Amino acid sequence: MTETRVTTSTLMDMKREGEKIAVLTAYDFLTARFLDEAGIDMIIVGDSVSMVFAGHETTLPVTMDEMLYHTKAVSRGCRRPLIIGDMPFLSYQTCVEDAIRNSGRFLQEGGAQAVKLEGGTEMADTISRVVERGIPVMGHIGLTPQSIHKFGGYKVQGNTEDSAQYLLSSAKILEQAGVFSMVLEKIPAHLAREITQAVSVPTIGIGAGVHCDGQVLVTQDMLGIFDLFQPKFVRRYADLAESMKAAFQEYIKDVKGGAYPSEEESY
Ligand code: KIV
Repeated sequence: MTETRVTTSTLMDMKREGEKIAVLTAYDFLTARFLDEAGIDMIIVGDSVSMVFAGHETTLPVTMDEMLYHTKAVSRGCRRPLIIGDMPFLSYQTCVEDAIRNSGRFLQEGGAQAVKLEGGTEMADTISRVVERGIPVMGHIGLTPQSIHKFGGYKVQGNTEDSAQYLLSSAKILEQAGVFSMVLEKIPAHLAREITQAVSVPTIGIGAGVHCDGQVLVTQDMLGIFDLFQPKFVRRYADLAESMKAAFQEYIKDVKGGAYPSEEESY
């Protein structure tokens, strides 16, 4: 496997050439290593860590320092995929200075090559100021989980004329602001196709149909580790929750029955 890092211009080339971009999340060294060995193009150190790793009900509680801890672990595990640090709630919404400082920390301390932040037209000024400082930004529109309390649930976005227009114009404005790519989350497939055709930067869909330039899933969802709920768009490629529970039960049985450790496993 080549160790040349995927860059923002690699991704632009992939869009131009019609090569789909495969993206997954990671929060730790080993998962990042396995993703790299499997050939993933980008890793998002997502604020979903708050839910699927730390057990919170939303993405809101995770802090900058916690995100940096996970980003450092991921960047120690991989060489080829582009690593994107996900800006946590209140690390960029407060003012442009916070956005620049905190996004810079992902690159300087975390070892990421880019950051992601949520929001449409209202975030364009912040994004262009961060990009001007040399920090690549990925946009994120549609269902933006940091606004869960405004939306009143994890609902499909862009299914009225007004909200579809807002998302289409947001995508174009984010492109002008300088994003190198954007996540489209939980929007109708036809709208994702329209946005994908309207912008020159790659769109990465999650619950946004097949027409996006790439796809992302939360790794714990696609591995079947996170078993508390399964959105319709999640395809499970393994059932690790069941495998883990079976292994734990077997270990407990062996310990209690004296079958572990054996003589070969002893000194
Ligand atoms: O937090 C996250 O994991 C994300 C990706 C799924 C896009 O935002």
